[in-house]
Amino acid sequence: MAALLRALHFVLALLISLRNLALAQDINQFFYNGFKGANLSLDGIASIHPNGLLELTNASKQQIGQAFFPFPFHFNTLSNNSRSLSFSTNFVFAMVPESPMRGGHGIAFTISPSTEFNGATATQYLGLFNSTTIGLSSNHLLAIELDAVRSPEFGDINDNHVGIDVNNLTSIQSAPASYFSEHGGNEILQLISGDPMQVWIDYDEMDKLLNVTLAPVSITKPRKPLLSTSIDLSLVLLDSMYVGFSSSTGSVSSHHYILGWSFNKSGKAQSLGISKLPSLPPGRNSKVREDWEQQYGPQRFLYKDLYKATKGFKDKELLGTGGFWKEITRTGKATTSGDVFAFGTFMLEVACGRRPVESERSPEEVVLVDWVLECWKRGAILGTVDPRLNGNYEVKEVELVLKLGLLCNHRTPEARPSMRQVVQFLDGDSTLPGIPVNGAGIGLVPVSNEASRDHVLTIPVSSDDVSSYCLSDCESILSGR
Ligand SMILES: *[C@@H]1O[C@H](CO)[C@@H](O)[C@H](O)[C@H]1NC(C)=O
Ligand SMILES: *[C@@H]1O[C@H](CO)[C@@H](O)[C@H](O)[C@H]1NC(C)=O
Ligand SMILES: *[C@@H]1O[C@H](CO)[C@@H](O)[C@H](O)[C@H]1NC(C)=O
Ligand SMILES: *[C@@H]1O[C@H](CO)[C@@H](O)[C@H](O)[C@H]1NC(C)=O
Ligand SMILES: *[C@@H]1O[C@H](CO)[C@@H](O)[C@H](O)[C@H]1NC(C)=O
Ligand SMILES: *[C@@H]1O[C@H](CO)[C@@H](O)[C@H](O)[C@H]1NC(C)=O
Ligand SMILES: *[C@@H]1O[C@H](CO)[C@@H](O)[C@H](O)[C@H]1NC(C)=O
Repeated sequence: MAALLRALHFVLALLISLRNLALAQDINQFFYNGFKGANLSLDGIASIHPNGLLELTNASKQQIGQAFFPFPFHFNTLSNNSRSLSFSTNFVFAMVPESPMRGGHGIAFTISPSTEFNGATATQYLGLFNSTTIGLSSNHLLAIELDAVRSPEFGDINDNHVGIDVNNLTSIQSAPASYFSEHGGNEILQLISGDPMQVWIDYDEMDKLLNVTLAPVSITKPRKPLLSTSIDLSLVLLDSMYVGFSSSTGSVSSHHYILGWSFNKSGKAQSLGISKLPSLPPGRNSKVREDWEQQYGPQRFLYKDLYKATKGFKDKELLGTGGFWKEITRTGKATTSGDVFAFGTFMLEVACGRRPVESERSPEEVVLVDWVLECWKRGAILGTVDPRLNGNYEVKEVELVLKLGLLCNHRTPEARPSMRQVVQFLDGDSTLPGIPVNGAGIGLVPVSNEASRDHVLTIPVSSDDVSSYCLSDCESILSGR
């Protein structure tokens, strides 16, 4: 059992470590769905949480937190390369203030010649300037501020705005934090609501237009930008420039987080996988997740991660099956109960040493879940255990894994144990509730019928086909989107 548990924990850990790898990194672009393992240049009180959440500032007052991509980009080359000033970026942030009604102070997406801001101060200066350096054209600095405090000396319009700043914190254009919905309405957002929001910043050097768009994470990029400013960045930026975030707190503090960030100088910045972003710490306004998610990260069994882990399912040994994901796609529902379902299926894999569906088997054994359930009802559940184990297992423990696997595959998602409970059962901290041998009594009805079986069996099985089938389906289903 210890080995089996280790294997299960290992797979969890593997999935998590793969989850947030930056997908593309070359000199012109990068992409972080969470910052686990990211080599950012951090300054002040900025830190990266174990789950990949980038925390620029915490509840400490009058502090600065900064995170920059460690290498500079070419922005203003003297050559005839016509795309050097254009850029596209999007990121997800959240502001969780200490006192519910007051922010402190804000976050600025920053393009700057250096990652050192000598003498810069916190509070209204956002860690970018001090009272001497502000306004100097030698700053060569562009910032998009998400400002939650009204600073009259900079002409701030309110305490909840987005502004475009050039060398100065008096914005050249600003607007109340809001977005234009599909229906044309201007929807106000509260920067300090604690809810994650997404920002898109796009500059096209041909049009010389800088666009800034804001929206809640739950919606796609609004068509109409919140800010659209005509500006010639060749007059502001130098050739070698760093991109990143600067943030500050004042006499009132706020946790300022970045959850994911995509940046591109060769085209439109890739969209972030919202479901893959790290979760915020539990607390006011942030949706409390289950303990196991805190422990293991906001786990979603992402097809893509597994696909990579298994080198496109070519290494069938690693998971024992490529059919695993196809089985899951039948349920059509996921999120937490889907994770549990996936894990349940996985446990049955592990214990029985076979795929969820094996058409070459005798009819009653084709669908693994049905077969295990039938054997359980007959009191012969151990007959399903992988014969290759040669009886080298603790009967009680394997029984637990099998029964738990079945429970996780309960037809009614609500009846499935939570992942936290699963971990408790596996760790022996909880005992599995007494389950009547008659599975029907707890609604554990066989999941197969002819229709679903046909559906499963007609899904292509080559790894390439699996990928085209699953990339759209598995991922969206598994991530619950
Ligand atoms: C904020 O972070 C800094 C640096 O990690 C730490 O010293 C400080 O105690 C933290 N403040 C709070 C209120 O947690
Ligand atoms: C991380 O960034 C620093 C620059 O800040 C660089 O010197 C170092 O090589 C980078 N490490 C990796 C693994 O990319
Ligand atoms: C500059 O333009 C010329 C002519 O269009 C082209 O051949 C050359 O490759 C360009 N150089 C760069 C650095 O883009
Ligand atoms: C602002 O920073 C600059 C550069 O470090 C420094 O020379 C100057 O004295 C600072 N001004 C104030 C008011 O702190
Ligand atoms: C900052 O910009 C505003 C508006 O353009 C300008 O009035 C102000 O003088 C600038 N501040 C400094 C210190 O140059
Ligand atoms: C900026 O917004 C305007 C108005 O919606 C649009 O026409 C233009 O293409 C946008 N530019 C970029 C670089 O997104
Ligand atoms: C950058 O743009 C290119 C061209 O559109 C695209 O192929 C690439 O995936 C983008 N990369 C990122 C990280 O957004």
